[in-house]
Amino acid sequence: MSKLIINGGKKLFGAVNIHGAKNSVLPILAATVLCHGTSIIHNCPQLSDVSASVNILKHLGCKCFYKQGTITVDTTEIKCSRIPDNLMRKMRSSVIFLGAILARCGNAVISSPGGCELGPRPIDLHISALKRLGATVSENHGLIELNAPDGLVGADINLSFASVGATENIILAAVTARGTTVINNAAKEPEIVDLANFLNSCGARIFGAGTDTVTIYGVNQINCCCHKVIPDRIAAATYMAAAAITGGEILLKDVIPSHLNAINSVFEEAGCTIKCDSNSLYIKAPCQLSRVSCVRTVVYPGFPTDAGPLILAILTKANGTSLFVENIFENRFRYIDELCRLGANVKTEGKIAVVEGVNSLSAAPCKCTDLRGGAALVVAALAAKGTTVISDIYHIKRGYENITQRLSALGAEIKEI
Ligand code: UD1
Repeated sequence: MSKLIINGGKKLFGAVNIHGAKNSVLPILAATVLCHGTSIIHNCPQLSDVSASVNILKHLGCKCFYKQGTITVDTTEIKCSRIPDNLMRKMRSSVIFLGAILARCGNAVISSPGGCELGPRPIDLHISALKRLGATVSENHGLIELNAPDGLVGADINLSFASVGATENIILAAVTARGTTVINNAAKEPEIVDLANFLNSCGARIFGAGTDTVTIYGVNQINCCCHKVIPDRIAAATYMAAAAITGGEILLKDVIPSHLNAINSVFEEAGCTIKCDSNSLYIKAPCQLSRVSCVRTVVYPGFPTDAGPLILAILTKANGTSLFVENIFENRFRYIDELCRLGANVKTEGKIAVVEGVNSLSAAPCKCTDLRGGAALVVAALAAKGTTVISDIYHIKRGYENITQRLSALGAEIKEI
C-alpha cells in the first residue's frame, strides 16, 4: 500500500497546470453511452475514478482507449445494461450511469450504492425523477432495476434539493425521451454546464444548464463529438491551499477563474492576494494567515463542500478562531481527527467546526479518510515541522493526477513510497 512522505516547511513557488475536472469527466463518460459512434474526450485526468468509469464502459460493451489525456469511446456494440457490484463499489458516483443506460437500453440494473466515506449517500432523488420519466423500479437483494422498454417520456421534475448527480442523471435520461423535460431547482455547478455542452455538441437540445431551470427537448438519437473537459476547480483550490499554508506564491495555469469566485473570496479574507487572468490565477500568501469569520458550504455558486477540507486545513494555522459549517454532507469531518494529530486545534459539533489557529503544526503519521480529507492532510503536512507519513493515499488518487510530481515541481519535499 503506497504512502506519501512529506517533509514540511518548504514555501511553494512556481507554476502548476490544473488537470481536467473529475466531476466533469465522470458524467461525460457516462453520457457517451447515449452517443452513436465514437466520442473523443480531451483533457481527461489520469485518476482511479476515471479508470473505474472506463471499466464500466468496457463492461457494457464499449471500446475505450486512453492516450495522453484523451479517451475515445465507441459505443457501437453496447450489449449489457447491468453494472456489477464490484464495479459499483469502486466508485459510488457510478450511479450516474443509470439514466444513460436506461435511455439507451430500456433497462438498467445497478447495485445499491449504500453508504460511503461521507455518510449515507441516498439516490432517492435520482430514482423518483426517473420514475417521473416513466421508468418502473424494483429493488431486490441489493439490486435496483429500472425498466422503460417503450422509452422514457419527458416530464416536469421539481427537485427538493439541487443535487448535482440527480440533475445529471435526469439530463442524461431526458436527452432522448419523447417530449420535453423541465428540471426545476436544478444544480448549477459548472460541471453540469460542461455535460450539457458535450451533449448539445452531440445533437441534444438542452437549454438553461447553469441556471436553476433546465429544459431538455427530447431528440430521437444523438451522435458523437470531440470535447475538452473543463479544468478541475477543486484541484485548483488544493494547490491554492498548499501555497497559502506554506507562505508561498504560485501561478495556476489552465483554470477558469470565475468558477473559483466563492473560493477566492475566502482565501482573500485569510489575507492572500489573488490576481486572475482569462485562464490563469496567481496567489500570494501573507506572512501570517488571518482567521475568517465563517465559511458555509452551499451549492454552487456558493462555497463548495469539496473545497471545505482544504480551507479548513489552512485555517488551522491562521491567526485566531474561524468557524466552519458543512451543510451538504452529514459525515464530512472524519479527516479532522487526523488533522489534529498534526497539532491542529479543531472542535466539531454536528455540522460545525471551530478552528483555533495554532502557531505551528508538527509531523505525525496520519491516514486519509476520504478524497478531499486526504488532500487536506497533504496541505497541512506541507506546513508541518518534520516528516509526515500519510497512508491510505488511494483516496487521493481518485481525484488528483500526479499530485506528488506537481507539488515537487513547486518546491515541496514530497515522495510516494
Ligand atoms: C457531486 C460531486 C461531489 C460533490 C457533490 C456536492 C460528482 C461525481 N461528485 O456528488 O464531489 O461533493 O456533488 O457538490 O460530481 N442527496 C439525497 N438524495 C439523492 C441525492 C443526493 O439526499 O438522491 C443528498 C446527498 O446525500 C448529499 C446532498 O444531497 O447530502 C448532495 O448530494 P449531490 O449534490 O447529489 O452530490 P453528488 O452528485 O453525489
